Amino acid sequence: MKKVITYGTFDILHTGHINLLRRAKEYGDYLIVGISSDEFNDLKGKKAYYTFEQRKAILEAVRYVNEVIPEDTWEQKLDDVIRYDVDVFVMGDDWKGHFDYLKEHCEVIYLPRTIGISTTKIKTDLNKNG
Ligand code: CTP
Repeated sequence: MKKVITYGTFDILHTGHINLLRRAKEYGDYLIVGISSDEFNDLKGKKAYYTFEQRKAILEAVRYVNEVIPEDTWEQKLDDVIRYDVDVFVMGDDWKGHFDYLKEHCEVIYLPRTIGISTTKIKTDLNKNG
């Protein structure tokens, strides 16, 4: 079984997320999604609208996703790749080059982002129009 992993906050799920998850799943049979824990978001100075448990429940309902795990630190990716026996590591190309150090252990792929949508944009637009 070919395993794929990807990471993100995945707050206020949108079509950019779904495109990324669908394309990530096409690289294998089993997709693991690492989502930032609430503590990790605090550390990054980021505040998600949904809690970790809510974001996890939403992602688990997406047909392309097989397993959701917490992301607690920047450094855990190498451990995860080894522990979960990951074949393909996928990230959006806003992270291009950042994770090339994982190439010793798995394939590393950066996918183009969907143009025109992001969680930040949704929040900003709703604030403007609300
Ligand atoms: N992503 C994407 N296309 C978008 C938005 C996100 O492909 N339009 C991808 C990112 O590249 C990442 C994953 O979805 O691999 C999770 O991204 P995340 O940072 O959680 O989503 P954003 O909408 O970019 O959130 P924010 O605006 O808070 O940065």
